[in-house]
Order: sequence, then C-alpha cells, then structure tokens
Amino acid sequence: MDIFVDTAKLEEIKKAESWGILDGVTTNPSLIKKAVEEQEDGKSLEEHIKEILKTVDGPVSLEVCGSCYDDIVKEAEILYNRFNDVNNNVVIKVPINTAMEQDDDNFTGVKAIKHLTDKGIPVNCTLVMSPNQALMAAKAGADYVSPFLGRIDDYIRTNMGMKRGEDYPKGTYFPQELVDVVRDQKLKSNIKDLDWDKTVYKNKEIMNLYEWGNDDGILSGVDLVWSIKQIYANYGFDTKIIAASIRTERQVRQCAEVGAEIATIPFNVIKKMMTHYKTKEGMKSFTKDVIPEYKDIVEKS
Ligand code: E4P
Repeated sequence: MDIFVDTAKLEEIKKAESWGILDGVTTNPSLIKKAVEEQEDGKSLEEHIKEILKTVDGPVSLEVCGSCYDDIVKEAEILYNRFNDVNNNVVIKVPINTAMEQDDDNFTGVKAIKHLTDKGIPVNCTLVMSPNQALMAAKAGADYVSPFLGRIDDYIRTNMGMKRGEDYPKGTYFPQELVDVVRDQKLKSNIKDLDWDKTVYKNKEIMNLYEWGNDDGILSGVDLVWSIKQIYANYGFDTKIIAASIRTERQVRQCAEVGAEIATIPFNVIKKMMTHYKTKEGMKSFTKDVIPEYKDIVEKS
C-alpha cells in the first residue's frame, strides 16, 4: 500500500520524505489554511506549493475551490498548468458532488471530472462518502477516489446520538463490531415483544433498528473502502482508492487488509504506526545486554 501524508505543512512532508516511506501528498483548502497560519518562513503560497512538489517524487493533490462547472474546470487547468511543470506530479482534487443547496446540480463534480480526465489531467475525486459516489467517480475516469473514513465514522456515531468531543475524542477508533453486538441485542429484545400479527417488515421499530449504527448499510469508514474495492474489482475499474480522513493507526491497518491501494495519513498517525511498547522494551533489554567483547566487534572496523 502506498503511503501519502495528509498535510500541507512543509516540515511534516520533509520529515516523512526523509524516512524513505513517502509516496505522495494530499492537501485540501483546510490543510493549506493550517499550514499557512503556522508557517514562519516568509514564503509566498506559490513558493510553498512548489517546494512541496519538489520534495516528493509522487502524486501531490491540489484541490479546486469552486463549486460550479466552469469554475472547477478553469481552476483545475490553472493549478495544473501553473504547477505541474515543477515536478510533473500534480493531481487535481475535485469533489464528487459540489451541491450545497436543495436545487443545486448533483452532477457538476462528475461532469468536471469527466472533462478533465478526457483532457489528460489526473483527478483525485474527493469527499466520497458512499460506494455509489465512488462508482460514478470511476465511470467519469477519475485516477483516484478518496473515501472519507473518519467523517463516515463520525456521521454514524452522530446518528447514534454520540457527540464528538463529549462522547469520544477526534482520534478515537470506531468499534464497529461492538455496534453490531448492541444492534443484535436491541433486535432480540424487540423481537420478544413483537406483535406477530404484523409482519416484520411492517414493524417500523424493527426496520429502524436495521438502520441503526450504519449509513445506508455501510458499517464504518473501513467498510466503505471494502465496498468500493469490491465494486471496482467486479467491473475492472483502474481508479485507485486513497483511504482518506484517517484518524487512527488501526484504520490504516484495516485499509491495508482490505486492499486500498493508498492511504493518506496525518503526520501524527504515521508516527504512531511505528511505536509499540514491546519494541521499546526489547530495545532497552538488548542494549543493556551488550557485552564489551561484542561491542568491540561491531564498533571496530
Ligand atoms: C484528504 O484527501 C482529505 O481531504 C482529508 O483526509 C480529510 O480529512 P479530515 O476528515 O480529517 O478533515
């Protein structure tokens, strides 16, 4: 699985690159805002972006800001033409659906993706929250699709009545298996009191329980990746999945198990992927046990 770092902060990108495991970078307007607010090197945003592109020899996603077709296409072309010459690694991020109001067109993003990919501009389709959106992105020719794991987990938790911050901090793992167990229990206790004169599918309470703790049948962010992977395999789409909006190292592991081609990971989560109590403990005991004769051998050339 390729590892991208999900940040626009140069310091983090350079550090991750120095570890020799970095395959690409993803940015979005919020990440650019954060990086610019914190940077103190006096560089213009244009210089900053160019330096990111030069630092990594892999795809770097830059997102459009507009929400209407003409703006998306224009901005994508401007970003691509202005920056791709730097290191030939610009990918344009386009939201799958730019609609924000009831009457907005739901297909503007897809139409723009089709236009850009037909012109040979590589696209990372972003803000993907459902397998059907990922199917549309692939049909439009997107090179990459970015399902948002953390935000789907948040959405399911919100629908269960949980509040981020109060009931769980941002980086908390979503125990999907536990939700399944609770749902089974709820179903069992409801079935006892069921009015068997009504068929089960007419019983709203039971039917609602099937929708509890999932998003239209998607059980978690990782489940979303799994579903997209199945759909792409069924039809031979070569759109690559970038597991995005990752909050924990356990999500990274599960995405690798499910076969996501890429995970874009916040810098602090990449760091956590390397730590284990027993590794540290082992290092301490091996270091303590080194005898002088052995030290002599390894230190003397
Ligand atoms: C990257 O492509 C996404 O924009 C990013 O992962 C979103 O992460 P967030 O949901 O933590 O903001």
